[in-house]
Parts: sequence; C-alpha cells; structure tokens
Amino acid sequence: MQLKQVLQDMWIDYVKISPAAGRIHKAFEELGEVVVNDHIALRTLRHPKVGVDHLARTFEACGYKRIKDYHFKEKKLYAWHFEHSDPIQPKVFISELLVDQFSKSLQKTMHELVESIEDKTLGRPDFSWIGRPWTLTHKSYLDLAKESEYASWVAAFGFRPNHFTVSVNHLKKLISLNKVNAFIKELGQSLNENGGEIKGSAQEFLEQSSTMAENIFVSFSDGQYPVPGCYYEFALRYKLPNGNLYQGFVAASADKIFESTNRRQ
Ligand code: NI
Repeated sequence: MQLKQVLQDMWIDYVKISPAAGRIHKAFEELGEVVVNDHIALRTLRHPKVGVDHLARTFEACGYKRIKDYHFKEKKLYAWHFEHSDPIQPKVFISELLVDQFSKSLQKTMHELVESIEDKTLGRPDFSWIGRPWTLTHKSYLDLAKESEYASWVAAFGFRPNHFTVSVNHLKKLISLNKVNAFIKELGQSLNENGGEIKGSAQEFLEQSSTMAENIFVSFSDGQYPVPGCYYEFALRYKLPNGNLYQGFVAASADKIFESTNRRQ
C-alpha cells in the first residue's frame, strides 16, 4: 500500500471515532494553518498474533524503521516509535498491553478476543486500522476497565489510530502550546489536565497536550453504550544541543497522555 493512502484511510477512520478532531483540524485550516502530523499512535496487546510487530508490518513496508522503545511500568505497557526516512511523514507510535501481568480473568478475556480473529483478517494489509474484529459485551468492557482503561479501549475499538498529533512546530500563528490550548478551549473542547495541561518541558525537548476523548456510542452485543473514543494531541519539539529537533518521546508525559481515554466518573 502507498503511504499516502495508508495515512488517508487512517485519518478517515479516526475522525469517525473522534469528530472533535475533525472540527479542530477544520478550525486550524480556517485560521490559515497547514496541519502537519507529528505522530500517529496505535494501541494493541502483547500477543504473537497482534503485537507491535504485527501492527508495524504495513508501516515497515512503507519505509518506516523501528527507532526506540519505551516501558510504562505502572500501566503495564510497552511501546516502540517508528520513523520514516522522509522527516515530514508522521512518526508512528505503537504501544502494547503486557497482558500476562494482569489477572487471569483479564488474560482470558483478551486471549479469547484475539483467538476469535480469523487468519484472513489478520493477514490484511490494513489490519492496523481495521477496527474491532470481535464481539464484546458491555459488561466485559466494564470489567476490563476496572483493571486497565487501556485494555477496555482496545476491546471496544480494536485496531485503529488512537490519536493523531498536530506538529505545533509547523504552525505559523499558534506557535506555542499555550496558544494552541487557548484556541482549543475557545472551541469548547476540554483538555486532559492530568499532570497539568502541558506535559513535558523545553528541558525534556518535548511539550505535549491533548483533548479528552469524547464519548461515542459503541455497539456491544448487549446494546449501544457511550464510551470514550479517540483524542487529538499537540506536540512542540525543541532543538537538541546538536541543532536537530528532538524526535523521541518522553515516557512520563506519554504516561499521562494515555489517560486521555479514561472514563470520566
Ligand atoms: Ni501521542
């Protein structure tokens, strides 16, 4: 598949789950900004059939290379970021839930979901944004969420971009995260305030903020229920002492950003 097509297909799928991202993107364009993506993030489970390696295949076939890994001990997640040789292309950040570190009951549910995926589905080149290839009850979703919000999100939404991230470095008017955040709030959108609106700092060479995911109705086998979907993220990168922009991620910031899909009590 062509990278341009891959990115376009993922954006179309993402905006369906995150209508606010579509509205914000349009508002940026109306302001005269050209939106460039810093990165796209995907979520999955550590399992031989659907782990990071499996989701990475299509991106690697489009010229992406595996760059750096991250470990989120508390949330029991592991992640890799991938970069394209053309620096204007978004980085791809793929995280996986370390399923075997959770209760037997969570492990059983997640393994049953994965085992229910047909081989021909697993082999599709668009698997990374295929959506949810299994059925699930709302009760199972809630049981998973008690242990891991991340597990419940993957169970409810399957394989698809969890967020797109605007590169603030490429904006011409909204040139700081404070400016971006004020603009987002003026649009009536709430931001993730866990750990402060802005995660990271110039000293860490990366600042990030994000919206909170909106609730959208999802079909479960026992009815339709509202659950948090996807969020939109904003990233400002700083120059390293060697003059190049920092291209990695800051684990402590990403840890808080993951909470953008938490259910609001
Ligand atoms: Ni991100």
